[in-house]
Amino acid sequence: MEQESIIKNYELEEDNIIDNTIRPETIEEYIGQNDVKENIRVFVEAAKMRNEPLDHVLLYGPPGLGKTTLAFIIAHELGTNIKTASGPSIEKSGDLAAILSTLEPGDVLFIDEIHRMPRYIEEILYPAMEDFSLDIIIGSDGNSRNIKIDLPPFTLVGATTRAGDLSSPLRDRFGIVSKLQYYTIEELSDIINRTSRVLNMPITEEASIELAKRSRGTPRIANRLFKRVRDFAMVKKLEEIDLNTTDEALNRLKIDKMGLDNTDHELLLAIINKFNGGPVGIEALSSSIGEEVTTIEDVYEPFLLQAGLLKRTSRGRVVTDKAYEVLGLAKRGKE
Ligand SMILES: Nc1ncnc2c1ncn2[C@@H]1O[C@H](COP(=O)(O)OP(=O)(O)O)[C@@H](O)[C@H]1O
Ligand SMILES: [Mg+2]
Repeated sequence: MEQESIIKNYELEEDNIIDNTIRPETIEEYIGQNDVKENIRVFVEAAKMRNEPLDHVLLYGPPGLGKTTLAFIIAHELGTNIKTASGPSIEKSGDLAAILSTLEPGDVLFIDEIHRMPRYIEEILYPAMEDFSLDIIIGSDGNSRNIKIDLPPFTLVGATTRAGDLSSPLRDRFGIVSKLQYYTIEELSDIINRTSRVLNMPITEEASIELAKRSRGTPRIANRLFKRVRDFAMVKKLEEIDLNTTDEALNRLKIDKMGLDNTDHELLLAIINKFNGGPVGIEALSSSIGEEVTTIEDVYEPFLLQAGLLKRTSRGRVVTDKAYEVLGLAKRGKE
């Protein structure tokens, strides 16, 4: 068990190191998301011309689409530093005050998973975002007092997989709100080709397209699969990743032609077999396949919805005719 967790940690670390080498640093290198990119480019330039901080930015969308990457790029384009924190790690007002007090004029403060920040911390953030001031209470009960600290002008970049979970007063304080979209096959293929150059392992055009098709519209998955396919190619002593090896590797990893993995299949099959195609409530589905509700909602569902395999109705989740087709099943009651 312990051994296993050590290996997992090691893998994660390796993932992080590679992630940092393949993560684009400039807006030029950031592929796709053209609308978001264009807006950010304009707002950054205008802020620089006025010599003011960029308005606060909220980035939202499913995991792995490039929110963190974009936050770093924004700081890079502004020519400022970035300080990072994550919602759940800010537990006390002092935690937030400590981070805010390290900011220099124009800096970017990146708060990942901002929807998981406690509500009372949010309230401290409001005046910080609006007037660049920090109101905190120091001391305890009988002996407490309010102090007001001026902060340098800064830009808050928040990232979240669930914009709906943000309180509206917090959401309203972001001047720029951008939703990241799933990537097209062409964009993913460009990302894979870029990774291939950075990691110095060539890939054929058709292999790159195949990998792109099976990456669930998600750069993080494309890069992760690229690394696994590269392992297969290296063991075969290939100098270039080809279509055959890609197909073989992805099949072994149980990634289907649409990019669905084991859990996607389990989820769709559970609705079909145990709930007669739906509608089924998210709780029932969650206990039936042993995945957390939030994981289903944030990681699996968005892609299945977008791919047209799943529908959300007021009475629960329903699989579509296309899902039966993709899984090679006949629809019950239709036979
Ligand atoms: N637009 C993009 N162009 C190139 N690579 C990207 C892009 N978006 C994401 N990536 C790659 O995908 C990985 C995951 O992106 P990340 O920013 O961590 O996603 P998120 O924060 O939304 O979960 C990054 O390490 C980066 O290499
Ligand atoms: Mg992130």
